Amino acid sequence: MEFQVEITRLDDQGRGIGYIDGKIVFVENALPQEVVRVLITKEKKKFYEAKVIERLVTSSDRITPNCPYYDRCGGCNLMHLNYRKQLEYKKQKGIQILKKFAGIEIEDADMIDSDEFYYRNKVVFHVEDGKMGYYQKESHHFVEIDTCLLLHPKINQLLTELKGASFLNSVENVMIRTFQDGLETQIVFYPQENLNQEEIIHRIKHLVTSIYVDNTCIYGTDEILEKIGDRNYLVRPESFFQVNTKTTKKLYETVKEALQPSMDDVVLDLYCGAGTIGLYIAPYVKYVYGVEIVKEAIISANKNKEINRTKNIEFYTGDTKTILHQLHLQANKVIVDPPRSGLDQKTKEYLLKLTPEKLIYVSCNPVTLARDIKDLSEKYQFQTVTFVDMFPNTEHVECVCLLKLR
Ligand SMILES: C[S@@+](CC[C@H](N)C(=O)[O-])C[C@H]1O[C@@H](n2cnc3c(N)ncnc32)[C@H](O)[C@@H]1O
Repeated sequence: MEFQVEITRLDDQGRGIGYIDGKIVFVENALPQEVVRVLITKEKKKFYEAKVIERLVTSSDRITPNCPYYDRCGGCNLMHLNYRKQLEYKKQKGIQILKKFAGIEIEDADMIDSDEFYYRNKVVFHVEDGKMGYYQKESHHFVEIDTCLLLHPKINQLLTELKGASFLNSVENVMIRTFQDGLETQIVFYPQENLNQEEIIHRIKHLVTSIYVDNTCIYGTDEILEKIGDRNYLVRPESFFQVNTKTTKKLYETVKEALQPSMDDVVLDLYCGAGTIGLYIAPYVKYVYGVEIVKEAIISANKNKEINRTKNIEFYTGDTKTILHQLHLQANKVIVDPPRSGLDQKTKEYLLKLTPEKLIYVSCNPVTLARDIKDLSEKYQFQTVTFVDMFPNTEHVECVCLLKLR
């Protein structure tokens, strides 16, 4: 069925919203003020989903994506909106979500920008029939990629170099991560069957620092090194590291600003990964405790403690929902940076008992952030939020919230 629809706003996933006979319709790649002819692709009781067949009125905020795969690949979804408007959209989205789910009224907030392109230091490619690429959004429909505008040029170089390699026929996924502007690079092949390791090493060793097959390093060093400010971080493939290196410095500075560190502070860095935020703020406080579930990340965190000559930090491996109740760590300030799912109930109970004077909540998911702020509101009052654009050309936004003890 085809309809003509006027788009009035964007939803949280960056889709255009319009109405057909009073029923909401979500339209990919459609912007406010546009009038589009659409084909319904899904019909549910409460909403439609539709795709654009023809654009009858075009928004002045629309730009033409410089990417040949934009219509097909699920990598990004806001490249058709100019960057200034992307930032405005993400800020308003964050503000509205905090209002809707946590009842917080915010007039305005800072929005920190990023390089628009070539910012990603990490990618996981799917491999099909020896070709590397992405899946279409929410599907297993494969799209071969020769180059991607979000990836650091070093990753695109490797993509070119690997094209046609016969060993890719035995590979399911390839992870590539590059640090120090392409100086150090790790690549991991996740095989379906035995791989000819000699052939892999021969083909790409001149381009990379380390090559892994699954969890085994078959060439080079276990970790690669990144620098944020004056701090050095060794990172293993299994460890989380922020994907936008340049903007990570701005993110960590925002956390430091919210923390207002003092040499009397004892800080808990929960979900610490390879010890990144904790080590960044350690020179400005008395002591830091880091907690992280991935043991390989803690191996790197302890090495990072050494290479940064930092003595006032200690790391613990464990799940926050159990280990915090066992360790009884005391702190007057807490930083949390959980995965998209946010804080679990047990961790929130611990924070409600610990009652630090400040809680800095770093989140890549404003919905779970808002839920958790609400759950913690009996003890903590929302103070400020700063949004950081870690993921340009996608709908995602990073948030740094400062909560204070009531
Ligand atoms: C968004 S990352 C933040 C990492 C770090 N703060 C940084 O900036 O690099 C979330 C981290 O939480 C860890 N994690 C996930 N669930 C956890 C849990 N239940 N307990 C402890 N750590 C967890 C993940 O392994 C990951 O390293």
